[in-house]
Amino acid sequence: MSGHGEPIPMISRRAGPLKGEARVPGDKSISHRALILGALSVGETGITGLLEGEDVLGTAAAMRAFGADVERLGAGDWRVHGVGTGGFAEPDDVIDCGNAGTGVRLIMGAMATSPITATFTGDASLRSRPMARITDPLALFGARAVGRAGGRLPMTIVGAADPVPVRYVTPVPSAQVKSAVLLAGLNAPGETVVIEREATRDHTERMLAGFGAELRVEETDEGRVITLRGQPELRPQEIAVPRDPSSAAFPVCAALIVEGSDVLVPNIGLNPTRAGLFETLREMGANLDYENPREEGGEPVADLRARFSPDMKGIRVPPERAASMIDEYPILSVVASFAEGRTEMVGVKELRVKESDRIDAMARGLETNGVGIEEGPDFMVVHGMGPGGVPGGATAAARLDHRIAMSFLVLGMATKKPVRVDDGAPIATSFPGFEPLMAGLGARIERATD
Ligand code: S3P
Repeated sequence: MSGHGEPIPMISRRAGPLKGEARVPGDKSISHRALILGALSVGETGITGLLEGEDVLGTAAAMRAFGADVERLGAGDWRVHGVGTGGFAEPDDVIDCGNAGTGVRLIMGAMATSPITATFTGDASLRSRPMARITDPLALFGARAVGRAGGRLPMTIVGAADPVPVRYVTPVPSAQVKSAVLLAGLNAPGETVVIEREATRDHTERMLAGFGAELRVEETDEGRVITLRGQPELRPQEIAVPRDPSSAAFPVCAALIVEGSDVLVPNIGLNPTRAGLFETLREMGANLDYENPREEGGEPVADLRARFSPDMKGIRVPPERAASMIDEYPILSVVASFAEGRTEMVGVKELRVKESDRIDAMARGLETNGVGIEEGPDFMVVHGMGPGGVPGGATAAARLDHRIAMSFLVLGMATKKPVRVDDGAPIATSFPGFEPLMAGLGARIERATD
């Protein structure tokens, strides 16, 4: 898992209209959580629509290593026989989470309050990402961590034998940090409290409640206060994973910038903690409709219909919206390149510690393809060139980052000259089937042979 093998260079050429239906894979965030909470419940949890990308398959393997029975019955159809809260066994080898920040951080939280030791590693991208944001709060429970300089993987966590509950104010807006603390709190006695000043995706809270944990969420002057009572007996669930809005973003944005396009992306989760991109696109003047809005499994869902949008204008994206679209800034910066005027993305320093430094990766790749960019520690500004106005013709570095690779392939669908991406292999971490899905709509993506 921890290497990506040979790089797969790809070229994306200007496409004719994109038409048809794009059935994107299951939600990555929800898929990780379904496997982990299934493994911590007593009995058998069924999951349908599970994302079978490398990141999530790594979490499935990890849950087996901690003692759960995890079985694949068919495409997206999985069963997890859990070991109960506090029932994790000690893995007999290193846990390799590949490229998955969410996987490693949530699993560290889930095991940190059991009297076991586990060592974690990942690919070069994951080994460069900060883990102190997780190990600091886990230390308050009584867990110990030993890693490389700067709190990097590989890292060993020695779980707390006698965990104490924790009250923790998250220092960065991060659903991974919040979730790691809540999962650790599951096996601590008493009440664990997490306070977040800015709301982040709330799938962990929703799913914990579904599994029968006692959990309260209050909006206060201090922020969003989440209180979890520890050591519950989690009841197994049947979970239908909705399709991933972060993956839907790619065909949606491609349709907005490719002349004549009309694409339907059915059944997309529109949880407000995830839907910031679509709101932003509509403010820019995108032809984007929510059709057939409904509720499924406690989550708002709709079919997204995206059509070519020649009249988009740059806007200032409000910083308070950042958490609800944090993974979507790379593809937004592509759309912004085809809008008229400036698109300002502010309050986005978390982008610098994702699978890559996403501000730098997008800025360099867009610049080399002819787009004007300004950037700083916490912001990026794209100078839009209008529909059809982006030159292209250059290679962008994917930097082991699936969303960077897909963003530049979408860019190439509407540039004057083709755009090349040095390595499309990381796309398999979150969006297996991206190439055939886009080809089915009319995109022209090829694997380069030279
Ligand atoms: C995720 C949280 C976000 C996001 C990541 C998935 C999650 O990370 O970028 O892709 O599932 O909790 P942060 O919590 O670091 O913001």
